[in-house]
Amino acid sequence: MAVKCIGLITSGSDAPGMNPAVRAVTRAAIYNGFTVKAVYRGFKGLINGDIVEFKTQNVSNIIQQGGTILRTSPSKDFTTPEGRQMAYENMKAAGIDALIVIGGDGTMTGTRIFAREFDVPCIGIPCTIDNDIYGTDTTIGYDTALNTIIDAVDKIRDTATSHQRLFFVEVRGGSAAGFLALNGGIASGCEECIIPEIEAKEDQIGTYIQNGFKKAKGSSIVLVAETEETGGALQYAERVKRDYPELDVRVSILRHLLRGGQPSAHDRIIASRMGVASIDAILDGQRNIMIGLKNDQIVYVPFAKVIRNVKPIDHSLMEILHNLSI
Ligand code: F6P
Repeated sequence: MAVKCIGLITSGSDAPGMNPAVRAVTRAAIYNGFTVKAVYRGFKGLINGDIVEFKTQNVSNIIQQGGTILRTSPSKDFTTPEGRQMAYENMKAAGIDALIVIGGDGTMTGTRIFAREFDVPCIGIPCTIDNDIYGTDTTIGYDTALNTIIDAVDKIRDTATSHQRLFFVEVRGGSAAGFLALNGGIASGCEECIIPEIEAKEDQIGTYIQNGFKKAKGSSIVLVAETEETGGALQYAERVKRDYPELDVRVSILRHLLRGGQPSAHDRIIASRMGVASIDAILDGQRNIMIGLKNDQIVYVPFAKVIRNVKPIDHSLMEILHNLSI
């Protein structure tokens, strides 16, 4: 059956760049003759029938806005077969025959389950500050979050230097991903960076202390990716304070700050490219794939591949951080 009407959803955690992606999907769809139905509040909106037709003017003046005008929300109901059945019925009642879903890894997983159960063509667009999605070099929102990290750390460094303090700065990173912390650490010249990919195997802070961090500089900044594996910045600060009472230690937790703000130029551009690519994919007869970027080229990645694989972090980046922070 030829697709005529596309449902558009933003789901999971918001990320800067969701709005430019919503704009691109809407405009590219209308340009190619599709009807667009926007679903509000993620999959919850599909279950509740919170669906509105979008024209080009619905996405005017949003390219520069953070967050998502479609809103987003977790949906426990969508994890149940009954909830997904309800979502399918509402989707059909609204005349939607394909879905484009913008979100992170959890969103891709939920979309794949739905696509298989109901045989609905679904296209995913990777959008999360965490950059932890397999099959794409980068996700929408990651670049803006990195820029927010460097802005925050530059400011923290002013006070850390003035007071000669050791700061633990906590960023988020998804379930077990240190992309934000590691590249944020390189970009802001941090002295150390604790990420789950390494911390799960070795006591990073122990090594850092043994290497004599306190002798090297008057002040130091350690970026910590908060996850179950790392435990977070407060825990490290407590340990260092206990073992080195002479050190002046402080903690700054950035967390949700990283999810806000105007999308960077890079995020606006990739959101626009991926949004257009999602409509091209529908025109190509693609289904159940995520749009990715590999070596700056658009690629189609089957959901199964996205979900089964963990995106590896480049460990040589840690060496770069260490070598440059002597
Ligand atoms: O995906 C972004 C993110 O901030 C993750 O790093 C974190 O695990 C998750 O969202 C937490 O979201 P919330 O606090 O909104 O539940």
